[in-house]
Amino acid sequence: MSVTELTSPPAQPLYRTLADHYLGAIRSGVLTPGERMPSVRTLMRTHAVSLSTALQVCRHLESEGWLEARERSGYFVRQPRRALLAPVKEPEVATPDPAAYVGVHARVSAIVARGQQADVRVDLSGASGEATLYPSAALNRIATQVLRRYPLLLTQAVTPNGHPELQTAVARRALDMGVQIAPDEVIVTHGCIEALNLALRAVTQPGDTVAVESPTYYGLLQVLESLGLRAVEIPTSPRTGMSIEALEMAVQAYGNIRAVVVVPNLQNPLGCIMPDAAKRRMAAFCDANRIVLIEDDTYSPMADSPTPLKAIKAWDRTGNVIYCASLRKTVAPGVRLGWVIAGRWHERVQMLKFAQSRPNDSLLQVVVGRFVASGAYDRHLRALRQTLREQRERMAESIAGSFPAGTRLLVPAGGFAMWVELPPNVSSTDLFEAALAQGVRIAPGTMFSNLNRFDHYFRICFGLAPSADLEAALALLGQLTRQLSER
Ligand SMILES: Cc1ncc(COP(=O)(O)O)c(C=O)c1O
Repeated sequence: MSVTELTSPPAQPLYRTLADHYLGAIRSGVLTPGERMPSVRTLMRTHAVSLSTALQVCRHLESEGWLEARERSGYFVRQPRRALLAPVKEPEVATPDPAAYVGVHARVSAIVARGQQADVRVDLSGASGEATLYPSAALNRIATQVLRRYPLLLTQAVTPNGHPELQTAVARRALDMGVQIAPDEVIVTHGCIEALNLALRAVTQPGDTVAVESPTYYGLLQVLESLGLRAVEIPTSPRTGMSIEALEMAVQAYGNIRAVVVVPNLQNPLGCIMPDAAKRRMAAFCDANRIVLIEDDTYSPMADSPTPLKAIKAWDRTGNVIYCASLRKTVAPGVRLGWVIAGRWHERVQMLKFAQSRPNDSLLQVVVGRFVASGAYDRHLRALRQTLREQRERMAESIAGSFPAGTRLLVPAGGFAMWVELPPNVSSTDLFEAALAQGVRIAPGTMFSNLNRFDHYFRICFGLAPSADLEAALALLGQLTRQLSER
């Protein structure tokens, strides 16, 4: 195969394209642990590349932990250390605990405030990438062009529901996920959090019960609390997402579930992806049982999958699915734009959005709309996914190397964060406090449940670029966990 046959994002150096090619072969099992990597000479001949490029390929794969150099024998495929860690345990599928009013705010706020007070050097508690991973130059350029083209954009009134440029860009992108909608069905919001607020306000009354994944995104729990709603936590597999069997049991046992909120693609914090068959079944089950399905699809463009992941909304035949998403994780963390496609509740969500916050500013919508409509967005996403994948692999290797036996990990197929299971006697609250005292911040597991579950889990973000500080922080977390487990 020649180099020209390898498809490469233009910004990527040649050695990285070739390294990805061989990484693909390792991942798919074509090259197995212990096997010899094609020699530097073979690489030069096969791909018509220089000695230095061929060497860079091997050294890159070595630095990422995929190859090891053996003296005078060349490079060999390594058994990744992370493969030696057992995966995070599957939850028991049983009737969930009865619904309870959500009361997480004080706990979550205390954890957030503790992290903000401390002198944090390495912050691993988030779920997005560093600012440098996002397309600032392209966004700045488009902003200048837009302001030149529409000099009154900042002074004229904004359009209700959203700017047509962004609505159209979103509707086009939705086609990839199997969702066909008209641009005016898109209601632009202040991030996904406003979309979730509107969706829940549109379909519930205070005191109603909402089913959520367990563990779930703490921001959702805060919204439920602020709306006076009760949550029933449904066991969720770290591989395949919310258990539909457990949801069925909850409906049978309690019968009063008004809505279910589900993150089918790269769930936060687990990173799981629901198989398409489960998405279809979930849509049908909720429809048949008059349960509104609120889908939060914040992360799907961040999946490794070569084809776009489908939304549950793709199987919505009756308008029962309210689809919420955001551009904050994909376009840039500073872009607080999201949207809601509210199906049957479109009019009501539209009214609530107007009453709650009025339409979003035009400038950001037009700039981001143009970017999302362009091929530059696809190129940015490819590069972002690639960087995150490398950072994820590297972090998983470091965790496998520094944490004690009994630690479990299931490396997600995309996204920004991993869910780590600590040995059963180690509390992530203790780990959080001990690490914070040394300037390292993680997200302890108790943030992700109203029932104060998951204390021996934590979420860790792989959005930071490799550095000596990061490696030291991971080594510190491993060492603190070891000390806590030996107490
Ligand atoms: C699953 C999930 N939903 C919603 C949000 C909030 O999205 P936004 O920041 O766009 O409001 C987040 C942010 O982390 C999230 O992880």
